[in-house]
Amino acid sequence: MSTENNPGFNTRAIHAGQAFEPHTGAVVPPVHFSTTYAQDGISGLRNGYEYGRGTNPTRDSLQEQLAALEFGSHGLTFGSGLAAEDAIIRAVLRPGDHIVLGNDAYGGTYRLISRIFGDWGIGNTPVDMADTAAVEAAVAETGAKLVWLETPSNPMMKITDIEAIAGIAHAAGALLVVDNTFASPYLQQPLTMGADIVVHSTTKYIGGHSDVVGGAVVTSDDELAEKIGFMQFAAGGVNGPMDAFLTTRGLKTLGVRMDRHSDNAEQVAAWLLQRPEVEKVLYPGLEDHPGHELAKKQMKRFGGMVSVQFAGGEGAARTVAEATRVFTLAESLGGIESLMNYPSEMTHASVKGTELAVPENLLRLSVGIEDAEDLIADLEQAFAKLA
Ligand SMILES: Cc1ncc(COP(=O)(O)O)c(C=O)c1O
Repeated sequence: MSTENNPGFNTRAIHAGQAFEPHTGAVVPPVHFSTTYAQDGISGLRNGYEYGRGTNPTRDSLQEQLAALEFGSHGLTFGSGLAAEDAIIRAVLRPGDHIVLGNDAYGGTYRLISRIFGDWGIGNTPVDMADTAAVEAAVAETGAKLVWLETPSNPMMKITDIEAIAGIAHAAGALLVVDNTFASPYLQQPLTMGADIVVHSTTKYIGGHSDVVGGAVVTSDDELAEKIGFMQFAAGGVNGPMDAFLTTRGLKTLGVRMDRHSDNAEQVAAWLLQRPEVEKVLYPGLEDHPGHELAKKQMKRFGGMVSVQFAGGEGAARTVAEATRVFTLAESLGGIESLMNYPSEMTHASVKGTELAVPENLLRLSVGIEDAEDLIADLEQAFAKLA
């Protein structure tokens, strides 16, 4: 329950890190474009501000806002989700170390871990995160220092038990990273379930309007924050002030958007479920979803992402993907507008032919906040092309 000393999600989203500007009283803090700061004598920094790669007030506002929403003590933002992931891995691992990750991780995450860090001597083992015995065995066999999971996963919508995997990782002396991009901090706060680090592509629900690319790391561990913060400063993968501002502006309305995304996705999933052209609907809000009970426990609602597999195979998926008018055929997700994605050839093309490959009869829908009846009418006219 929210109280004055323990404000609710939407109050934190709107006020954390957003104090009005003291000189004029401007309610929206100004965007600080300056790359450098005047010093009151050599090393006489004003409030620690020295140079834009290291610190920027607009970035600081966003970092504070994100930390407050994830119940973390430190937020760090980056130029993209992958830049955030890269900073984590370089900050905590060294050549010879190993990562155990979900076998349906986002294709770009797997590409970073296998193709970039593989060449630097970091090994990886993909496992089914729903199989806790397999995770335990993989961590023990490889001596992994990092366990990496996404829940719900992209695009298979698998739900992983964060608390259980945190227990396995910690018992083996490993750290747990949770990619919270699909759920967003409104629906799920992994740090409260034992995760050591939360990572986001803020490009998605956090920015929320498909107009800014960015990434974030949140943790409550001072030592990890210090190491990842040093990487942010010394390797320089930061986001710019305008990007930070747009992300902050989007984040203020995350709660209302996520409720509406969830409302619409529930209706779209229910509609898909009764269509004969559909082989399977992957949405954790459906009672027959294998992760439904777990999702009810660790998420506030079920979110805006729905995947669907077609009985007519690849051809049917491609026909529908190219026939919608309100759903736009495009990569990415989490914006206010509905998007349709064919992962096998689009977002997940980089994992084709690997064990992370996505079924060819699958479409991933990012259900936006338009009127649900228009979304369903759009799907109806696209499905008519299958007749
Ligand atoms: C779950 C997930 N994690 C990370 C990323 C990478 O983020 P970005 O594209 O901002 O680098 C994405 C991008 O699609 C994603 O879906």
